[in-house]
Amino acid sequence: MPPHRRIDADGHPTLAELEESIRTDDLWSTRLLAVERKAVRDVIGYCGLVDGRGSAGEPELAFELLRRVWGQGYATEAASAVLDWARSSGYERLWATVWDWNTASRRVLAKVGFTETERKVVDPVHGTTLFTTRRL
Ligand SMILES: CC(C)(COP(=O)(O)OP(=O)(O)OC[C@H]1O[C@@H](n2cnc3c(N)ncnc32)[C@H](O)[C@@H]1OP(=O)(O)O)[C@@H](O)C(=O)NCCC(=O)NCCS
Repeated sequence: MPPHRRIDADGHPTLAELEESIRTDDLWSTRLLAVERKAVRDVIGYCGLVDGRGSAGEPELAFELLRRVWGQGYATEAASAVLDWARSSGYERLWATVWDWNTASRRVLAKVGFTETERKVVDPVHGTTLFTTRRL
């Protein structure tokens, strides 16, 4: 995780602060879903759609899983399910933005059919954001 996404030296964001942001923040409360394993019935992260920077009316796919479950195909499975959901909801195209250094996320996006476009945003501190897209 880049430094701005980590829990800081004073312990923020706390669990209570995260709970509050999930309840009140539009970004979280719109179309992000909890990812739950059917067999274990534990919540391991989120996957869904957010209004992003792609194009108007074409949301972004977003996902994040707990580190302890990485590398077992869960992000790919969850992303595929969200693509089906987006298609049946009438969307014709989705976007996904990803840091150029985020190999795991870029691999997940490639596996579910996203392709990179010419669009990118270069941030000298955090890296380059790549814009990828997928027709449904
Ligand atoms: C990105 C993330 C959701 C992937 O979750 P996951 O369940 O491990 O993903 P999957 O198992 O479905 O697929 C991961 C793929 O990346 C590959 N991969 C992972 N780390 C890699 C690395 N360092 N180098 C090369 N490939 C890597 C895996 O081998 C796998 O590909 P494969 O199936 O061809 O072998 C998870 O790492 C995460 O939560 N990261 C932090 C949040 C984040 O970056 N979110 C996305 C923001 S755009």
